[in-house]
Amino acid sequence: MPPSSSVLRFRRTTPMAAAGAAALLVLGSTPVHAQEADPPYRDSMRAVDDRVDDLMSRMSLDDKIGQMVQIERGAADAGEVAEHGLGAVLSTGGSAPDPNTPEAWADMYDGYQRAAVETPLGIPILYGLDAVHGHNNVRGATIFPHNIGLGAAGDPDLVRRIGEATAVEMAATGVDWTFAPCVCVARDDRWGRTYESFGETPELPSELTSAVTGLQGEKLGDRPTSVLATAKHYLGDGATEGGLDRGDAVIDEEELRAIHLPPFREAVERGVGSVMISYSSWNGTKAHADRYLITEVLKEELGFSGIVVSDYDGVGRISGDRNFTPEDLRAGVNAGIDMVMISKNHAGFISDLRAEVDEGRVSQGRIDDAVRRILTKKFELGLFEQPFADRDLLAQVGGDDHRELAREAVRASQVLLENDGVLPLAPEGGKIMVAGKNADDIGHQSGGWTVTWQGGSGDTTEGTSILDGIREVAPGTEIVHEREGEGIDDSYRAAIAVVGETPYAEYEGDRPDGLVLDDEDRATLSRLADSGVPVVVVMVSGRPLEVADMVGDWNGLVAAWLPGSEGAGVADVLFGRSAPTGRLPVTWMRTSDQQPINEGDGQEGLYPYGAGLSYDAARPAAPEAPQLP
Ligand code: GLC
Repeated sequence: MPPSSSVLRFRRTTPMAAAGAAALLVLGSTPVHAQEADPPYRDSMRAVDDRVDDLMSRMSLDDKIGQMVQIERGAADAGEVAEHGLGAVLSTGGSAPDPNTPEAWADMYDGYQRAAVETPLGIPILYGLDAVHGHNNVRGATIFPHNIGLGAAGDPDLVRRIGEATAVEMAATGVDWTFAPCVCVARDDRWGRTYESFGETPELPSELTSAVTGLQGEKLGDRPTSVLATAKHYLGDGATEGGLDRGDAVIDEEELRAIHLPPFREAVERGVGSVMISYSSWNGTKAHADRYLITEVLKEELGFSGIVVSDYDGVGRISGDRNFTPEDLRAGVNAGIDMVMISKNHAGFISDLRAEVDEGRVSQGRIDDAVRRILTKKFELGLFEQPFADRDLLAQVGGDDHRELAREAVRASQVLLENDGVLPLAPEGGKIMVAGKNADDIGHQSGGWTVTWQGGSGDTTEGTSILDGIREVAPGTEIVHEREGEGIDDSYRAAIAVVGETPYAEYEGDRPDGLVLDDEDRATLSRLADSGVPVVVVMVSGRPLEVADMVGDWNGLVAAWLPGSEGAGVADVLFGRSAPTGRLPVTWMRTSDQQPINEGDGQEGLYPYGAGLSYDAARPAAPEAPQLP
């Protein structure tokens, strides 16, 4: 039998700490739950449905509506969250404790959680954030390749293992909900979120929903480090006209179902615990207000029984700016949204939605359905039994094992697109110049959603730059770093130019005017090409860029995508410690005016979907890309 309900339980902590907690409760602190000592909902031996029924029978309408709020941490401290009985807290990109250390995250999380479990009902909160390529808000955490690189690797088990490692680093800090994986199907690479997609056809995003299993376990809560995963953004965020983030997907239902729905079906079949609604619209209807898609398709047709969560202030944006109105709440909740993510005004949310229920414009049944879904995930996660950070795991945050896994993923994601024999480079002898703005910049190689929302330049977190990786794997070669290729001459046996994009996220990355290399990169590449020294280009970017007019001057081209903190994985492939095995998860256009360009659309790009060379000439040709139904 589990210990009595009056003892605060710590997630996998030492018995001493738990005993200490018990002593605290006995020595003067009021009993944790003023109500009956052991109400049925606190009995972990009971069926979850029974626990939910019992708990809901004890909740007022305000208690229930409070559970439907996910508030940004900056808008409510632990006391306010507990006072209003809010269901969840979130950190938007970069919203971190100061100092931004794993220990400080665990302290912050436990502070919210302790206040929540000490309320009369003792309902723990969910704490969500975008751990989209590792626990990337936390400085020092392992940063894995962004999804487009994992799509190039195309290995479901690798993605599962990454999810598992990410969940461990999250559990160490307490955080129990990630808004990942994005299972969007990116159809127009001008979209600023292309790198968050596993690929341009439904096949790769569907196969790589193995991330859900990595994050949650085979069954949510089946291990102490199980965290709630989120399939996002439902539905059609990658289909908008012109690749405009939060734009309008003007496509028929047959295309929406054939291309964009399959990854969500797969995620639901894997038991994903939450689905996030897209800011975008489908044929002019905001997804956040689309009852057909949310309730009839997702909940009823696909049988999704988890939490439907809005995007950040997404309900408020139904009618215009981000501030919700009563009409917004009515539209979003009646469409089927269960948890509403908001930047502020949690008190107003509760009073506005209560009025909608009192006036009969939102049914009690809809509220009860939402709250049942939310409480069910909290029970399944084991939060009532083990609500706090698992500090025994802190040593694994950014630890060697996870960094080695990340380096393995970087190797697997490299796509070799051109090679006249210059690759693999010999690791011994002579001089090699390493140039380009992305050669020695952990921030650039990690991309957006890294420590901050938009990411940044320089040593934004701990890791190994591509340049440092080259020095590590080619110790017998003199490596000269010149960002702009200054001084290149025939004393060098080769030049490696690491170019591409600087970090961005969401609409900040929209490029409606085209996907081109910046002037600095073009000048560096010209200088190197003019020298006559063999040039290997490493493209660090979130998507294909225009290279057709320059690639003829290059001896090798590798798409490295956004590798994250372990840049040495790129060097492993350049110097032949590993052969390139990656394949393009998106068609590489000749020119941006071909966008959107996708497999099977009749256009001829520079490199097709599925392209990828190896060092072994005998490697079979790229597999026939799957034909869309
Ligand atoms: C953002 C994104 C979404 C993210 C959420 C919380 O605007 O659209 O992907 O999960 O807000 O940060």
